[in-house]
Amino acid sequence: MTAIVDHCKRKITYLRISITDRCNLRCVYCMPANGLGLLEHSDILSYKEILRVIHVSAEMGITKVRVTGGEPLLRRDVCHLLRDILNVPGIRDLGLTTNGVLLKSMARPLWEAGLRRINISLDTLNPLKFRKIARRDHYQEVWEGIREAESVGFNPIRINVVAVKGLNDDELGCFARLSIEKPYSFRFIEYMPMGSMNWDFAKFMSCNEIVEKLKIYGSLHPIPRHCSDGPCRRFRFAGALGEIGLISPISNHFCGTCNRLRLTANGKLRPCLMSDHEVDIMKPLREQCSDGELATLIQEAITKKPKRHEANDGSRQHSMRHMSRIGG
Ligand code: 5AD
Ligand code: SF4
Repeated sequence: MTAIVDHCKRKITYLRISITDRCNLRCVYCMPANGLGLLEHSDILSYKEILRVIHVSAEMGITKVRVTGGEPLLRRDVCHLLRDILNVPGIRDLGLTTNGVLLKSMARPLWEAGLRRINISLDTLNPLKFRKIARRDHYQEVWEGIREAESVGFNPIRINVVAVKGLNDDELGCFARLSIEKPYSFRFIEYMPMGSMNWDFAKFMSCNEIVEKLKIYGSLHPIPRHCSDGPCRRFRFAGALGEIGLISPISNHFCGTCNRLRLTANGKLRPCLMSDHEVDIMKPLREQCSDGELATLIQEAITKKPKRHEANDGSRQHSMRHMSRIGG
């Protein structure tokens, strides 16, 4: 197996795949209230095409895959896809990121398909505020989904929280308390400028600010790094069952250690979340390209991986694609 190394000597081992642009929420930082124009079904990669890309990437050194959306649980037969991904030689680690709305009924089938890593996005612990942020009334379903995921055995349960000033910064104490009582890992993610979503620096909260506010609730002890941590720095309050994670793509970009490549639902390889360079593989796949040609396109995407993004330098370079079309 040849490891794929980019021009900055970063070894690319992680492929994140958005399997749909559809979503059953309309989070204010991600989508306009009326949603975005949806891709035609024929413009979305089939499972067969996705699996082909995974096979060729695995031969090139990809070992880890994460399935995202939009909301991936909206796509039919997602458990079949997960099972097939786990059968691809070389893939050792599979994760899924979901908003949790459909998780109550899906947690068991996902577990039975072989999935063991799940990240659930939830930005608030208040049902009214959930409605304000996600513009839909599904708070209860998400919590039922989280509990079901816990009871079928998912461990750890990671809960992604996008921190936005004026939106959920008043709830840090509630998250802190819950991380002490429950074995959940709350991972705070800095609010990023994505798509045309009127990103406002006044609402941006850096991980340093988050830590300062969390410290009011007790001292945070660093947890030794684990190979699956990626860019997440982990901490725990004394005696806590759960954890606090901090992901700081803006204030402390981790581009130097980025090992990721992304595949969008409409078949574009995207070397960097924050930059809009893309390599189309949909057309070549549908024109029956060879595995060698596909490998060359994957290599090309990796060659285009920028050294670092500049979204923290006055947003000169930031993504015009919305997160629901990239997959976070
Ligand atoms: N900034 C930070 N995180 C975002 N997400 C969506 N849009 C943004 C943004 N502008 C997150 C979602 C989810 C993950 C897939 O990406 O909340 O946790
Ligand atoms: Fe849907 Fe996730 Fe975007 Fe929210 S952040 S609208 S859950 S894709």
